[in-house]
Amino acid sequence: MTETTILIQNHRSIRKYSSKPINDAILQDLFLSAQSASSSHNVQAYSIIVVKDKEKKDKISKLAGDQKWVRECPVLLVFCADLFKMKTACEMNDAPYALNGIENLIVGIVDTALAAQTLLIGAESYGLGGVYIGGIRNDVNQVSQLLELPEYVIPIAGMCLGYPDDNPGKKPRQPLSIVVHDEYYRKDNIVPGLLDYDDIMSEYYSNRTDGEKTSGWTELMAEYLASERRLDLKEFIIEKGIKII
Ligand SMILES: Cc1cc2nc3c(=O)[nH]c(=O)nc-3n(C[C@H](O)[C@H](O)[C@H](O)COP(=O)(O)O)c2cc1C
Repeated sequence: MTETTILIQNHRSIRKYSSKPINDAILQDLFLSAQSASSSHNVQAYSIIVVKDKEKKDKISKLAGDQKWVRECPVLLVFCADLFKMKTACEMNDAPYALNGIENLIVGIVDTALAAQTLLIGAESYGLGGVYIGGIRNDVNQVSQLLELPEYVIPIAGMCLGYPDDNPGKKPRQPLSIVVHDEYYRKDNIVPGLLDYDDIMSEYYSNRTDGEKTSGWTELMAEYLASERRLDLKEFIIEKGIKII
């Protein structure tokens, strides 16, 4: 193992922070790190909105399902897929732009995720902790208004950052037998692998909750996937100018 892989494999989401602020030089270094992530065709189709203002964090926290770590973190970053800069580049060159369709949206979302995760790893290397906030997509319209996001800019995920005041256990991941496939996809591995993972997760939750929660992963996924959510996203994306149908 290298120092970097040890750091990466030591990741856990942090939802409680000390009062120590994050200094600006560290934040700048993290933004430069995020920017060093690979980018499809070098389009760099993302923007990061930095939110430190208490009132704004309060509002976003409420919109994100009243998650208190959003309110309490010293810095909240909102990662957005940003096709506005691509559109502007075309306009600056008096060229037509074909930003419609799923492809450019995928490019934007993938670029955004790569930048976000690169930043989080950098943050953890400074001893910071963080957690992604998909909850910002609970009400994309209001989040978009609050952050004054122009057309072609879609909020993808928030990220709370701060110095940890918590040391949660590491959450086990799926067995590698159902994640990494040698040369071809091993469909037969999936059910046995998931059964093993159910046992692992059940024990993990049981230990974390003094036996109160003992669900396996498949049960939790079945619960989570039983209903559709955030059905307004499609319309929001179309209203932002990206014709995905
Ligand atoms: C895109 C994305 C959105 C997430 N949204 C939330 C969220 O809204 N609230 C939260 O507490 N955790 C959120 N998480 C954190 C996950 O729950 C967490 O990463 C996962 O359970 C694995 O735990 P770990 O990060 O501690 O290893 C999100 C993670 C990702 C990648």
